[in-house]
Amino acid sequence: MPSYHIITYGCQMNEHDSENIAGLLEAMGYEHTPDSSKADVVVMNTCSIRENADKRFFGSLGQFKKYKKTNKDFIMCVCGCMPQQPRIIEKIKESFSWVDILFGTQTIGEFPKLLSERIRTGRKQISIIDNSPDIPEVIESKRMFRHKALVNITYGCNNFCTYCIVPYTRGREKSRSLKDVVCEIRRLAEDGVKEVMLLGQNVNSFRDSEGNRFADLIKAVDEIEGIERIRFMTSHPKDISDELIDCYRTCSSLCNNIHLPVQAGSDSLLKRMNRHYTRAQYLEKVAKLREVSPDITISTDIIVGFPGETDEDFEDTLSLVKEVRYDSAFTFIYSPREGTPAAEFEDQIPERLQHERFDRLVDAINEISLEKNQAYVGREVEVLVEGISRNNDKALSGRTDDFKLVNFTSEAPLDEEMIGKAVKVRITDAKTFSLDGVITE
Ligand code: SAH
Ligand code: SF4
Ligand code: F3S
Repeated sequence: MPSYHIITYGCQMNEHDSENIAGLLEAMGYEHTPDSSKADVVVMNTCSIRENADKRFFGSLGQFKKYKKTNKDFIMCVCGCMPQQPRIIEKIKESFSWVDILFGTQTIGEFPKLLSERIRTGRKQISIIDNSPDIPEVIESKRMFRHKALVNITYGCNNFCTYCIVPYTRGREKSRSLKDVVCEIRRLAEDGVKEVMLLGQNVNSFRDSEGNRFADLIKAVDEIEGIERIRFMTSHPKDISDELIDCYRTCSSLCNNIHLPVQAGSDSLLKRMNRHYTRAQYLEKVAKLREVSPDITISTDIIVGFPGETDEDFEDTLSLVKEVRYDSAFTFIYSPREGTPAAEFEDQIPERLQHERFDRLVDAINEISLEKNQAYVGREVEVLVEGISRNNDKALSGRTDDFKLVNFTSEAPLDEEMIGKAVKVRITDAKTFSLDGVITE
């Protein structure tokens, strides 16, 4: 049987696309191999969000050329956000001409045809489009987990934050229909899925042709038997509706957690980023969420060193972090992306200053994360088991409803059968990014 190997960079959209690509390859009779050097087909699913993602990509692409020597039928494919940019396609054609197939984020469904054509004719295949008006067909994907699933609800993005490449690599925003999404999740529930992650660059702007909004979708998924946990990613602060906030009160399966990227704490930076909310409006959304659900956990994304960021702007970001007291935050040093407006802004921040601010911000965030986690010590929490713990192969790990990562041990032998089950764990220790505990039930 021919075999395949997929390497995935980037966000959960890409992870889900890779699950779909795996599904397509298996339907063609390929089987997965964990060892890329044994694979007949290698697919690299790429990300372009920051410059170092570009560098990493070209660095690791080069290493696959040698497989052409040991396996004359070896086929190299590149997909994802990189080849959506004309300059990258040019560079691949120029310096990596041995790559066999290139396809984009909106042409995944064509991959089987491209692969068959490549095998039949020996010719290189390219299928990229900038902006498809169509909603991709749902593919029978090969899930990474039995008990949890990623589900696309919107594709693309219309927000054009001035720093961001995504609107150029994923095209204009399109919503699936509520009916289709519910149908897919019902099938997933029948297949043993307990947790769904609803995916979109801005899930709050979901709107289908019948006028259903994101809150309607959450309510509909909440009714599906077997689905115990609903998560979503990512929500844009400007579009969080009161209806959605109310779902935290009315929908029992909606997890008590939200990822709400703020990006910056100063109004002038938020404006230059084209985020369409002020600091005060953001804080008001947080207050409303906490009014409905006082112990909701909140995480965020923050960019430091954005062009024109003054000391004052940065202090505003620090003070916002201390005011909101995030459970966790992803912090990024601003990275100019060719073709985006911010890359042309004149007042770029020197690297040394960016790093200095970044370190100060991370310290502030980590201190708060640890304090937040310490409040869990002694408590009993329910954990949905996900697998063997990363840092201790005698322990298992999983997530609480409010998205805390818990590593836990038990006196009885742990077995993999527990994966996907809910267990009670008493928390014994808190770290910055995780909790430790022992199983009680
Ligand atoms: N659609 C999501 C974010 C997708 S990108 C949203 O709007 O929340 C994930 C994160 O990468 C962003 O939230 C932002 O913090 C960061 N990011 C995007 N472009 C960046 C850039 N050019 N430099 C540094 N960080 C960036
Ligand atoms: Fe990028 Fe902004 Fe769209 Fe998020 S909302 S994907 S940060 S343009
Ligand atoms: Fe990267 Fe594309 Fe996601 S640029 S973050 S893989 S949408």
